[in-house]
Amino acid sequence: MKQVYIETFGCQMNKADTEHMLGLLDEIDYKHTENIEEANLVLFNTCTIRETANHKFYSQLGIVGKMKKQRCRDGVTPSLLLGVGGCAAQDKKEWLIKNFPYVDIVFGTNNIQNLPELVKKAESGKKVCEIEEELPYELPELPVIRQTKVSAWVNVILGCNFNCTYCIVPSVRGREKSRKPEDILKEVERLAEEGFKEVTLLGQNVTAYGYDLSSNYSKEKATFGHIPDDPEYSLAKLIRYVHDVDGIERIRFLTGHPFHVTDELIDTVAELPKACEYFHIPMQSGDNTVLKRMARVYTVEKYKEMVEKIRNKMPSRGVLQYAHAAITSDFIVGFPGETEEQFLNTVKIVKEIGFDGCNTAAYSPRPDTPSATWDKQIPEEEKNARLRYLNSVVNEVVGIKNKDLLDTIQEVLVEGTSKRNENNLSGRTRGNTIVNFDPTMAGFKPAIVGTLVNIKITKVKRWALDGEVVGN
Ligand code: SAH
Ligand code: SF4
Ligand code: F3S
Repeated sequence: MKQVYIETFGCQMNKADTEHMLGLLDEIDYKHTENIEEANLVLFNTCTIRETANHKFYSQLGIVGKMKKQRCRDGVTPSLLLGVGGCAAQDKKEWLIKNFPYVDIVFGTNNIQNLPELVKKAESGKKVCEIEEELPYELPELPVIRQTKVSAWVNVILGCNFNCTYCIVPSVRGREKSRKPEDILKEVERLAEEGFKEVTLLGQNVTAYGYDLSSNYSKEKATFGHIPDDPEYSLAKLIRYVHDVDGIERIRFLTGHPFHVTDELIDTVAELPKACEYFHIPMQSGDNTVLKRMARVYTVEKYKEMVEKIRNKMPSRGVLQYAHAAITSDFIVGFPGETEEQFLNTVKIVKEIGFDGCNTAAYSPRPDTPSATWDKQIPEEEKNARLRYLNSVVNEVVGIKNKDLLDTIQEVLVEGTSKRNENNLSGRTRGNTIVNFDPTMAGFKPAIVGTLVNIKITKVKRWALDGEVVGN
């Protein structure tokens, strides 16, 4: 038996891919280890969304490169194979091979299914570099070894058909390709049999799910936002199918695009009890001129309309005393040409909408994206100053939203032991906020992992809540 250590960078798509890499490697007898010292194969599943993501990976790669040389020299510990996959590999294969000669395997986001074959070749002493520009015509069903027990990732659509002018994703992940609903359902049914309670339907542009499978879909129009008339497939329809799977108690989806948040989707989430009222729908900027230059295909007004619809349709439900569906976003500051006033429009919208959470980032010029070469790039110090300011506002806004949760009763899916206190358990609300609690509250049978419990929120911290069980 051999052992593989994988370091995963980036988004949930990469985390899901890592689980498939582990499944594929298991078939050639590589078992997963969390101890790099024991590994015969070290893989990096990389992200290149911003330059900082690349830097994290390069510095780790350097450390493992040294480790590999050390093992070659001492001749005692088994030799080490080193592989790089994921989005940075897809983007930089030649550069990687040239600059990191100790890397044995380079593979991309479109050919994960070939990993066993590539590892076998590398075992026989060959350097292998294989990047496919496109996904296979028929998406293969890949084996998987999950890293979780209660909540599972399920890829439903790969790639993105938009062309946001700052974004490298379409070039490293390709164009949209939805999995067939029957394949997704089979996977979810298997998950239910294995005891999973929650599924998160994943895609870089998950709200476009199914449109590319529909007969009257136009790929050309999709770049500017396109929903076919009466589509045969959609995310809302998929959520309905998944909702029928016995044993699955919660459904989430990630990441949405405001253009595709249809009434059908909002109504479906509002109607179906297993669908969590959690919308991660990145807005990116609170200024219409910037949104237009980003090619985001919606306006601030449209976004606000969407928020209003979601909140009107999803007030408190039964025991759930939480006033609104949770809405979270991503924002980029310092986009080329962004004026102080335009930046302040972003600050304003964060306060006005009152997001339940926001990821923020300073604009990072990505190779071969249109905005990377535009005039009026904002100096680093200015971008960082804007980021610091926006972060302070986000903390304030999210703090206020979290305070609203104090003394409410939240439905929590128990996921495991709390990271802070091993006697406590931890889970997430329907709105995706972490709650830590004592599982043995008097008067109730002890809460256990994989169950839904009602918890009264007793303390609000910056990124998590504390609570007490009031029902199971
Ligand atoms: N499909 C999602 C986002 C995918 S990328 C959407 O359309 O919103 C994840 C996040 O990374 C983005 O929401 C954006 O905020 C950030 N991001 C993408 N490219 C970036 C860049 N060049 N510089 C800084 N942040 C970037
Ligand atoms: Fe990137 Fe835009 Fe596609 Fe999101 S919608 S992945 S930001 S191109
Ligand atoms: Fe990064 Fe690739 Fe995800 S660039 S954000 S890992 S799709």
